[in-house]
Amino acid sequence: MKIAVAGGTGTVGRYVVRAARERGHAVVVLTRSEGVDVLRGTNVDAAIDGADAVIDVLNTTTLSTKKAVAYFETVSRNLLAAERRVSTPHHVALSIVGIDRIDTSYYAGKLAQERLVSASEVPHTIARTGQFHEFAEQIAAQTTMGPLTLVPKTLSRPVAAVEVAKHLVTVAESSPAGRAEDLLGPQEESLADMVRRMYAHDGVSKKVLEVPFPGHYGRGLGSGDLRGGLPSLFARTTFEEWLLTDHQA
Ligand SMILES: NC(=O)c1ccc[n+]([C@@H]2O[C@H](COP(=O)([O-])OP(=O)(O)OC[C@H]3O[C@@H](n4cnc5c(N)ncnc54)[C@H](OP(=O)(O)O)[C@@H]3O)[C@@H](O)[C@H]2O)c1
Repeated sequence: MKIAVAGGTGTVGRYVVRAARERGHAVVVLTRSEGVDVLRGTNVDAAIDGADAVIDVLNTTTLSTKKAVAYFETVSRNLLAAERRVSTPHHVALSIVGIDRIDTSYYAGKLAQERLVSASEVPHTIARTGQFHEFAEQIAAQTTMGPLTLVPKTLSRPVAAVEVAKHLVTVAESSPAGRAEDLLGPQEESLADMVRRMYAHDGVSKKVLEVPFPGHYGRGLGSGDLRGGLPSLFARTTFEEWLLTDHQA
């Protein structure tokens, strides 16, 4: 198969590219660094022409509802319109388990993306997974001030991005299904505890404070909704195993 990966240099995208190549697929990467800007709609048709599947793992980092919705709606519209023009047989979108009742901030963007994909004539599958183990690194990078890291109270069943990537390639190899089964991690975790264990593993001596994040978004993070439910597929790698294998200090 030929698989196009939109966001193929990102946290999960680079593993999607690797997993697809390991399974013998030809891979095209759509990123700005490769000369394809999906937000502006630059060079998208040429990049995906002839692809049997497009996997969307694009991302923006924002907590603004307005910015998140504008970004995910625009990139999804541009990608789906290009796919209609070149008759792409399968659009695969990565989304997040348990966000339905947290329609605000970043998750509002993901729900807007899901609504556009669901309504599209392009054959598609939305694959939801738990937060990544890598989320501990991402959050620590954003919320550290000097010797202190403030972590929003968050409960989830995190999953290694490398396992998310393999799941997405399997979904792309399968027929469009509308929605794939959710993929969750093997254990329930608190995000603050993950950051503490990551610091202990990396020898970082910063204090981690768990804080209830304000507003509807904060209540959603701490509510336990992100842990998902059944039926779901369960990935194997625990956070502890991820620290020892994939995680680079
Ligand atoms: N983090 C989590 O715990 C988690 C859990 C479940 C699902 N997800 C979903 O996983 C997806 C990927 O997240 P991530 O953390 O792997 O992303 P990331 O590391 O932020 O990478 C984003 C990718 O998108 C590309 N990109 C951004 N804007 C672009 C544009 N205008 N045109 C073309 N390429 C663009 C970037 O490359 P350039 O900068 O070179 O353009 C990069 O390859 C997101 O949709 C997210 O919602 C995340």
